[in-house]
Amino acid sequence: MDLTRILQLQRVPGVIDLAWGHPDASLLPVADVQAASVTALNKYAGTMLTYGIDRGIGPLRDRIALQIAQYEGVAPLPGEIMLSAGNSQALAQVAMLYARPNDVIFVENPTYHLALRILRDMPVQIHPIQCDQDGLDVNELAQAITAYQTVGQRIAFLYSIPTFQNPTGATLSATRRDALRAVVAKSGLVIVEDDVYRELWFDTKPIPSLWATFPRGSVIRLGSFSKSLAPGLRIGFITADAATIDRLAGCGLLDSGGGMAHFPAFILAELYENGAYDRIVASYRHRYASRRNALVAALEPLRQHGYTWQLPQGGYFLWMKLPADVTAERALSRIRLQQVDALPGSVFASTSLGYEAIRMAFSLYPEEDLTTAGNAIVRALTHE
Ligand SMILES: Cc1ncc(COP(=O)(O)O)c(C=O)c1O
Repeated sequence: MDLTRILQLQRVPGVIDLAWGHPDASLLPVADVQAASVTALNKYAGTMLTYGIDRGIGPLRDRIALQIAQYEGVAPLPGEIMLSAGNSQALAQVAMLYARPNDVIFVENPTYHLALRILRDMPVQIHPIQCDQDGLDVNELAQAITAYQTVGQRIAFLYSIPTFQNPTGATLSATRRDALRAVVAKSGLVIVEDDVYRELWFDTKPIPSLWATFPRGSVIRLGSFSKSLAPGLRIGFITADAATIDRLAGCGLLDSGGGMAHFPAFILAELYENGAYDRIVASYRHRYASRRNALVAALEPLRQHGYTWQLPQGGYFLWMKLPADVTAERALSRIRLQQVDALPGSVFASTSLGYEAIRMAFSLYPEEDLTTAGNAIVRALTHE
């Protein structure tokens, strides 16, 4: 099979490439999806293959709402949830409907580089706000909002990944969440919350989403099954106030094409129904935690040389900060000589100020390869 004509992921033979934030295809639930597809097709026949209801099939919306209630203690009302084709599609759709030309969109700095690509397809101004190990700098955000509001500049929204952020792995602290809630109450800011890693926690469940804890109408939360199940299914969901869901589900795109992810939605509903979904996510948590541990254990000697990182509590990534005298470019050029690759921090920065950091994904390779890669990185960065 010529995978270069099939996959987004392109591998260089002999290189352990930690740049890709992709799952390991060998862990993906082929047999479960196969069985669920057959059961669903037997049950629903042609209804699975025609245009679907604009907000996505009811049985799956109900099932996801139930799960949110169990996890976060708040259930979206029936009018407050719809399906999407994943967070990339949902973000593009929200930006298309909510951002006008020349509007400001706030983003975290650093942030998910491909969300920046999506937002840059719009005629908007992107305003980066610094973040650290506790997430977004809410004071900086508040000052920027005041400055724009003073001159009458329209702000479309803040795009934020408050839980297990990509690339840093950081989660917005409870104190900062309180401060952000106050900013939202004062300024009327709308937040687009990218919650793609919520279910991929390792040690303890994350705190509830901004959507679950902020006033209704202030947060549009984008959920995805790309990390908790399989990205190839292209399915996710949106929770927001009923007026926002009406607007998103009533837009021309869905009026023409019907609900997003209609076919995979039946398969996912079946995976919930027969218990496979919970089993699959639990197995991912276990596997990815073990992979994180393997990579971190191998990198440990670097701590004595001034390299630092926060242990990711969920998600796919380790964000390693470099000592003051080492640039990401120099570190990566040495790492590449050892047949290992990763991404420099500058890729995730929306300003020309680079980040002297490296992002490594521990999702794609088994523990043995991560140990090999970690050892090679230590060699590359400690031997003159
Ligand atoms: C923060 C973040 N948002 C969105 C996505 C893409 O989500 P989806 O596959 O649901 O489009 C990713 C994938 O890496 C991500 O890291």
